[in-house]
Amino acid sequence: MPQYRIAPSILSADFARLGEEVRHVIAAGADWIHFDVMDNHYVPNLTIGPAVAQALKPHCVTPDGRQVPLDVHLMVQPVDALAQMFADAGADLISFHPDATLHVHRSIQAIKARGCQVGLVFNPATPLDVLDWVIEDLDLILIMSVNPGFGGQSFIDSALRKVEQARRRIDACGKDIRLEVDGGIKADNIRRVADAGADTFVAGSAIFGKPDYKAVIDQMRAALAR
Ligand code: DX5
Ligand code: ZN
Repeated sequence: MPQYRIAPSILSADFARLGEEVRHVIAAGADWIHFDVMDNHYVPNLTIGPAVAQALKPHCVTPDGRQVPLDVHLMVQPVDALAQMFADAGADLISFHPDATLHVHRSIQAIKARGCQVGLVFNPATPLDVLDWVIEDLDLILIMSVNPGFGGQSFIDSALRKVEQARRRIDACGKDIRLEVDGGIKADNIRRVADAGADTFVAGSAIFGKPDYKAVIDQMRAALAR
C-alpha cells in the first residue's frame, strides 16, 4: 500500500486563529499543511503571502516535535519572484501552475536551487504534456479536481482519468514523485481518488468545516486502508 498523506488546506481554516488551527489539525493527524496562495490575477481570489507562511512555520510541528511539511500551492502569475519569497519563508514544497509562467523549466530549477521540493499543478482542462519534458525534475504532481480559486467546490470526475494518466507517467519515469489531488475531497470519495493512483490528498472544507478534525482525518484513513 502506498504511504498516503493527508494535507489539510488552511484555506478553510479560521484565519483569525491560523497558528492554533495548524497545531490543532496536526495534532488531529495531518501529514502536511497545504497553503493556498491566490493573487486575484491568476485566480479570482486573494489569500495569504510569504509573511503568513513565515509566521506559521514554527507551528508546523507535531506535539512530539517532528516537523510537518509546509506544502505551498501557488495560484499566482508570474511565479518566480513569489516562489523565491516562499522558499525564504520556510516552504518545504512549492507547486505552481505551468500555464502561469513563461519558462516552466527555469521556474522549476529556481525553486530547486533554493532547496525546496517542487511540483507542477494541472487545472481540470490542462493537459499533462509538459511532463514529457520535465517530469524527472519534479518531486510532486498536483491534479486539480476543481477550478482553482475557492474552497468548498464539488469534485470534477474527469480528474480521476487525469490522475490515472499521471500515475502511469510517474511509474514509467521510475522516480519517487508524489501524486497529490486538490479539490472536493471528502471521506466518501477519497478511496476512488486513491484507486486512480493518488497518494496525497488535499482537503479543506471537509476538515476545517467540521467540529472534530481528528474524526474526519480518521475516517479518511479508514477509507484509504480499505
Ligand atoms: C482551491 C484550493 C484548494 C482548496 C480545497 O483553489 O487549491 O486547496 O482549499 O478546498 P476543498 O477541499 O474545500 O475543495
Ligand atoms: Zn490548493
